[in-house]
Amino acid sequence: MKVSLGADHGAFELKEAVKKHLEEKGIEFEDFGCYSKESVDYPKYAFLAANAVAKGECDFGIICCTTGLGVSMAANKVKGVRAAVCTSEMLAEMTRRHNNANVICMGQKVVSEDLAMKMIDIFLSTEFEGGRHERRVSLLTDIENGKELTV
Ligand code: RB5
Repeated sequence: MKVSLGADHGAFELKEAVKKHLEEKGIEFEDFGCYSKESVDYPKYAFLAANAVAKGECDFGIICCTTGLGVSMAANKVKGVRAAVCTSEMLAEMTRRHNNANVICMGQKVVSEDLAMKMIDIFLSTEFEGGRHERRVSLLTDIENGKELTV
C-alpha cells in the first residue's frame, strides 16, 4: 500500500505527525508538501496528493489543512477522487464502507493528533462493502462525467 500526503501551512505539523505514524506502521508514503509553516495555497497541495491517487500511483491519500474543508473541495475536483472530511472514527469507517472514499481529509484545528491517527488506521484498513453501495458510488462517477441524474 502506498499513501499520498498533502497539507498546507495550517496542517504542516499534523502532516509531519502522520508521516511519523505511517513510518512506525511500515506504510509507504509520498509527501507532496508543503514542507514548512510558510503560508501557501492549499489547492495546489491537495491537487498533487489527490492526483497521485487518481493516476493510481498511490492507493489512498491523506490531505490536511486547518479545517480539512478547503483541501477536500480541491481533492474532489480531481476525477476519480472521492475525498471525505472526517472528524470521528465512525466517519472514517463509514466513508470507506459506503462511499469507497480514496482520500481522507482532516483539519489540524479540528481533530487531535490522537484522533487523526486512529481515523487513519481505520480508513486504511476498512474495506468497501460494495453491493448496493457500488451502484451509488457509480452514480457519483456519472455526476463527475456530466450526467444529469434523475430519480
Ligand atoms: C489557511 O488559512 C486555511 O484557510 C486553510 O488551511 C484551510 O482550512 C482552508 O479551507
